[in-house]
Amino acid sequence: MKIPAVKGTRDFYPPQMAVRNFIIDGWKKTSLRNGFEEYDGPIFEHLKMYQIKSGDEIASQLFSFTDRGGREMAIRPEITPTLARMVNQQINALPRPIKWFSVPRLCRAERPQKGRLREFFQWNIDIIDVEDVLADAEVIFTAIDYLRSTGLTAEDIVVRISSRRMLAALLKSAGVAADQLDGVYAVLDKKAKLPDDTFEAMLKERLADNAVRRRVGEVMSASTIEAIQKTTHLDADGAAAVGELRRVFDLLQLMGVGDFITFDIGVVRGLAYYTGIVFEVYDRASSLRAICGGGRYDNLLRDFGGPAITATGFGMGDAVLEILLREKGLLTDAMLTTRTVDYFIATVADEFRDQAIELAFQIRRAGACAEFSYKSASLKKQLKQAQTLDARLTVIIGEEFRDNRLIVKNMATGDQQSMPVEEFMKALPEQRQGA
Ligand code: HAM
Repeated sequence: MKIPAVKGTRDFYPPQMAVRNFIIDGWKKTSLRNGFEEYDGPIFEHLKMYQIKSGDEIASQLFSFTDRGGREMAIRPEITPTLARMVNQQINALPRPIKWFSVPRLCRAERPQKGRLREFFQWNIDIIDVEDVLADAEVIFTAIDYLRSTGLTAEDIVVRISSRRMLAALLKSAGVAADQLDGVYAVLDKKAKLPDDTFEAMLKERLADNAVRRRVGEVMSASTIEAIQKTTHLDADGAAAVGELRRVFDLLQLMGVGDFITFDIGVVRGLAYYTGIVFEVYDRASSLRAICGGGRYDNLLRDFGGPAITATGFGMGDAVLEILLREKGLLTDAMLTTRTVDYFIATVADEFRDQAIELAFQIRRAGACAEFSYKSASLKKQLKQAQTLDARLTVIIGEEFRDNRLIVKNMATGDQQSMPVEEFMKALPEQRQGA
């Protein structure tokens, strides 16, 4: 019986694993360079964890199960609730502010499509307990910092930034009641992904009043922050939110990444817990789903039973990113290493096989990678195998081994050199893999 792979999951054969490692290595380096420490949590949590504050969309995409003790569990669709739980648990012991990153494997029962899978990796960066929007600018910078390091430029990608706090003020002034806000955000978040009439119908379900809907339409058509300030009378909270938003733009300018950012009132975010600055990264052509999304969430720690401490951060998935990097020619096979074979040990005749095995394992004990042929084969075949393995050097053991000499062949240039075994062994530690 053949059992197929599950739809929306990926098998990571060595070449795909090399891509995954390449992406994750870049994420980790960027995190450390920007001052974040790594953490992780379990891959499943109590189901309730994702039903409290993440919103209906995520809750409807959970892979959940009942354990043998009858407890309801879910595989993590995001790590932010786990982060809130972990921080709450040690809130008095952890030095603050907290700057943490993680690269969890997540599962969402979405309809698999280009860039959206049922299992994926997601880079998370979060700063906890910094009220200043400098922290929001810093996380946005960190996302751009990584994307730039891959070779993507401001012509390839754009960070669209808005503010839930400002939007809340605008929607309230348009006549949306406070208890309708979450539902309206969820619909507005989908606008770009839906046909116009479907969007209208969904909005009508949330907002029955035609005049309110028309005013919401006007709010959402604002293309600049200035236009909002000119045309709308904002209350104190709304005005403060606009001030924050302007400061984020100024800070990102100061950080040297002004080319990458733009204001977009249409960025609302699908998750329910955002309360302040929100942002998403897209390819400029807007042909792909979001590469990254995040923002400020003021109430999540409190909602999970902790103190009212503010936080801001983002998640960046590997799937859309990989598609974009490939499209832009920034992910070439040459950049992807599956393994580096430093030495291939070949013999001119079977009588030297024991010496070859001994040498190969001596090299490994010294910390380098040595491979050899498992079967007896002609030297020609062994050299072919060395080439297939992309070995840097082939060591040939033959008659001169009786005089403690061996031949080292550089596989790239074809040059070969006879040298005493002792000299070869002395040089080994300097050639340690990764040294
Ligand atoms: P999110 O917008 O749900 O936010 O996901 C962030 C990113 O994860 C997306 O932009 C996308 O790159 C990737 N992603 C999401 N779903 C899928 C999927 N089904 N397949 C492939 N990639 C996907 C969050 O998860 C928030 N917890 C992020 C956050 C951290 N906010 C603050 N801190």
